[in-house]
Amino acid sequence: MTENTPSLPVVLSAAQPTGALTLGNYLGALRNWVTMQDDHDCLFCVVDLHALTVRQDPKVLNDRIFDLAAVYLACGIDPEKSDVFIQSHVPAHSELSWLLNTFTQMGELERMTQFKDKSKRHKNNINAGLFTYPVLMAADILLYGTNRVPVGEDQKQHLELARDIASRFNNLHGPVFNVPEPMIAKGGARVKDLQDPAKKMSKSAESDLAKIMLTDPAKLILKKFKKAVTDSEGVIRYDEQNQPGVANLLNIWYTTLGKTQEEALDHFSHNMYGKLKVETAEAVIEMMTPFQERFQALQNDRPYLEQVLAKGAQKARARAEIVMKKVQSALGLPLDQNRFGQ
Ligand code: TYM
Repeated sequence: MTENTPSLPVVLSAAQPTGALTLGNYLGALRNWVTMQDDHDCLFCVVDLHALTVRQDPKVLNDRIFDLAAVYLACGIDPEKSDVFIQSHVPAHSELSWLLNTFTQMGELERMTQFKDKSKRHKNNINAGLFTYPVLMAADILLYGTNRVPVGEDQKQHLELARDIASRFNNLHGPVFNVPEPMIAKGGARVKDLQDPAKKMSKSAESDLAKIMLTDPAKLILKKFKKAVTDSEGVIRYDEQNQPGVANLLNIWYTTLGKTQEEALDHFSHNMYGKLKVETAEAVIEMMTPFQERFQALQNDRPYLEQVLAKGAQKARARAEIVMKKVQSALGLPLDQNRFGQ
């Protein structure tokens, strides 16, 4: 717990409440968060402000925020060990984001691949928030003195920017921020789209067959894996360049079961693609079934979720003030005595 164990490395991570999560979110991020809870001081945030960079239906967004908190808990995030909270409940995220905007160059933001992708997909709404999104993400991280950030490969560029912003600020104003390290899981860091294995598996993929949602029933998971795109080579090898579909299935199989790439090859070489697809589906179904049962129970218990999130926000707000006070002092902004005390 945060107050009692200040010496543990601080971990912060987050996901956007923009729809049900995929197997990619789970293997690339959430599953790793769970394993860090005992020997890290963890904060896990539902980043609702980030979701607003794309138009959202307010009622749907509201439900998705609670659903995402239920997903965190159903995956095994324990609110007794980790701080689980909603980003908009801690106003310091937006506040620090503004200050960090002034330490971020336009050119840096223009280079962000996620901004380029999203502005192509949302041509009618290329808002300033979409552009400065990585600065808000840097604020999420830097606000808590974070040491490690467990994320999938796709967030690496944003993490590098957060490190650059922190270092730039520290060079000008003294050591205010910890410079965070990304923690990118080996096998699950880049789960690919089942229909186009050149792309990452994404919630926003148009084809349902492209993505495994954490809430998909077993039959549908099996169907999606059976229809996964492979190739015409007919041989199971690990070759991301030439056989990306097969490599993706091998990755999913071995990370789901906690095995190695070598074990996957030993198990499947001399076999047909059909066996790889079915056994990968079976491994995923077995992993997801207990999650799905817990998720349903939590989703129907809004009062419990509200209670967990209120407690989490209270703790996060108190922690955030420590860094905000340092930042404001370093910048020469007069400290509000009502807020920070003497
Ligand atoms: P988001 O909501 O897109 O994804 C949540 C996490 O899931 C990982 N992920 C994947 N990992 C492997 N394979 C995939 N196909 C895959 N798809 C998604 C993401 O890398 C991420 O770790 N900007 C972030 C949210 C964020 C954040 C933060 C993260 C905001 N502030 C501070 C860490 C720290 C995002 O959009 O994640």
